[in-house]
Amino acid sequence: MIDSYTVFCAPLQGVTNHVWRLAHATIFGGIDAYFSPFMRIEHQQLLKRDINDVSPVNNQGINLIPQILACKPNDATTMALHLKDEGYSHININLGCPFPPIALRHKGSGMLPYPHEIEALFRALKPIPELSFSVKMRLGWQRPDEWQQVLPLFSIIEPKFIIVHPCIGKDQYKDSLNLEAFQEIVDSSSFPLIYNGCIHSIDNVMSIIHRWPSLHGVMIGRALASNPALLVPEKVTPDNYHKFYLEIYNHYAATLTGGDHQLLSTMHAFWDWFLLDANHKCRKAIKKATSIEKYENAVNELFNSL
Ligand SMILES: Cc1cc2nc3c(=O)[nH]c(=O)nc-3n(C[C@H](O)[C@H](O)[C@H](O)COP(=O)(O)O)c2cc1C
Repeated sequence: MIDSYTVFCAPLQGVTNHVWRLAHATIFGGIDAYFSPFMRIEHQQLLKRDINDVSPVNNQGINLIPQILACKPNDATTMALHLKDEGYSHININLGCPFPPIALRHKGSGMLPYPHEIEALFRALKPIPELSFSVKMRLGWQRPDEWQQVLPLFSIIEPKFIIVHPCIGKDQYKDSLNLEAFQEIVDSSSFPLIYNGCIHSIDNVMSIIHRWPSLHGVMIGRALASNPALLVPEKVTPDNYHKFYLEIYNHYAATLTGGDHQLLSTMHAFWDWFLLDANHKCRKAIKKATSIEKYENAVNELFNSL
C-alpha cells in the first residue's frame, strides 16, 4: 500500500513466475498482490507449466491473483474451475495482451473490438459459485474508444476492479499512453479502477494518485522487474539485489533438467529485465555468455560494480 492505495505487481510472461514472485516477496515485498502471467488452454488442455506456476504449493505466503486468457467460453470456464479447485476465489481476466499471434485470434486486447464475444465469456464465468473476477485491459485493439462498448458488459461479472493500461494493443509496448481516454474511463466506470503503465518510481505513483484520487490503486510491471526494490527504498542495497538474484539462479540451477543451455537461456530472459541501469558492459557480457563459467564471471563482475 502507498497511503491507502493498493499496489499490484503486474504479470510479465516469462519473468514474474512463481520463482520470481517468491524471491521478490521474501527479499523486497511492498506489494499487495501479485498477478500470475496468463494461463491459457492449448489443444484443449491446460499447460503443465501454467498449472505449476499457480499451484498454491509454489506460491506459499504470497497473495496471488491468477490470470486467465481465453476467447472461448469453455476454455475460460475450464481454467476458472481448475483455479477454484486449487482454492482461488478471485480470477483476473486478460483483455490486454497485445501480442499479435494472440490478439489476432480475438484474445487479450484483440477481443476488445468484439463485445459480443466478451459478453459470452462473462456470461459463462458468472454462474460459477464463489468466484469473483477482475479484468486487466487496454483501451482497445485498434482504436482508443473500443472500451466504450465493453464497459456496460462489466455489470455481468461485477468485477472487484478493472486494471487499465491506457493504450491500444496495436501500439504493443510503445508506451504511447492516452491519459485523456483514461480520464474518460475514470468518469464513466462504476467499478474501482487500477492504473497501469510506465510507472518508474514512487514519485510517479504519487502523481497518479494526486491526479486521480478516486483510484483504487496502481499496478507496476517492467520497472519492478528491473528494480525489484522500487517500492522499498530502504532495501536498495547491492546485497539485497544479489540475494534476490541468487534465490532465482540457485532455484533454476537445482531444478532445470535441460543442462547448461537451458539454464543460460532462462537466466538470459531474466536479465532482459533485471537491473537495466547497471553497468552496461557487464550486462552485455552476461547476455553474450555461452558457458556457465563465463556467465557467472560476468554476473560477479556486475554485482561488484554496484
Ligand atoms: C514481457 C512482458 C510480458 C507480459 N505478460 C503479461 C501477461 O502475462 N499478462 C498481462 O496481463 N500482461 C502482461 N504484460 C503487460 C504488463 O502486465 C503491463 O500491463 C505492461 O508492461 C504495462 O505496465 P508497465 O509499464 O508497468 O510495465 C506483459 C508485459 C511484458 C513486457
